[in-house]
Amino acid sequence: MANGFADNGNSLTCPFGRCDGGGWILGEDNLAYKCDCLEPRLAKARNSGINSVIPARYRGVSFDRPPVTEINSTAVNAVRDWIDSMDTHLDKGTGLWFEGGIGTGKTTLAMLMSKEVLKRGHSVAIYSCPKLLARIRETFNAGIGEETYSELFERLCEVDLLHVDDLGAEKQTEWVLEQLYSLINERYEREKPMVVTTNFDLTKLEEQIGPRTVSRLLQMSHHVLDMPGDDARFIA
Ligand SMILES: Nc1ncnc2c1ncn2[C@@H]1O[C@H](COP(=O)(O)OP(=O)(O)O)[C@@H](O)[C@H]1O
Ligand SMILES: [Mg+2]
Ligand SMILES: [Zn+2]
Repeated sequence: MANGFADNGNSLTCPFGRCDGGGWILGEDNLAYKCDCLEPRLAKARNSGINSVIPARYRGVSFDRPPVTEINSTAVNAVRDWIDSMDTHLDKGTGLWFEGGIGTGKTTLAMLMSKEVLKRGHSVAIYSCPKLLARIRETFNAGIGEETYSELFERLCEVDLLHVDDLGAEKQTEWVLEQLYSLINERYEREKPMVVTTNFDLTKLEEQIGPRTVSRLLQMSHHVLDMPGDDARFIA
């Protein structure tokens, strides 16, 4: 490995063969000294926090240019209203929910919200639903200095806005349903808002992620926005 770490960096082997993999060396004076492998491990842990980056495709989203100027105006106005009352919504824990077919602008509008929330100095965690679950799964083999499940869970519960794209898109297992419920329920109880996009209508989403999770989300949504239209990616 280029960085000297075996496998994915979760290994408990010291790349320099100096410590027992824990990052500390016991000196002859019985004091513990930092091994050279400790800093890279900690740096990796710091970088494995929540993702608050707007993907390149959506970085330039703005109300005054396409595609937002071409997206269904009811939905765009709802986003504008939400942003105008952002502080109240962040405080009360009310977000927006975008539902509709592929290529109708759901992700675009949700990214626009997140971008504005970040711009005003609040924290946002942005994940597609499958990525969020993969990130949670990763913590189950967290190495030394890496974020544990409960640390990640706490961050996801505390972030000002949790943005989940393509809700229900992942393969459903008991584990997935339980993870989504605990997270969404916890945010509901703490009155922390979410913005979600999904290709599923209510009934289908209930089948995908379970009625009690959908019910919590509905209570946390200022509006459920139905996005009409055909897939804009295929319209010339
Ligand atoms: N109503 C629309 N009119 C024109 N282009 C659009 C519209 N909605 C989305 N787009 C464009 O289509 C692509 C898909 O949009 P996206 O927001 O990712 O859709 P969704 O999340 O609903 O699948 C993007 O490149 C976006 O710029
Ligand atoms: Mg999308
Ligand atoms: Zn070491």
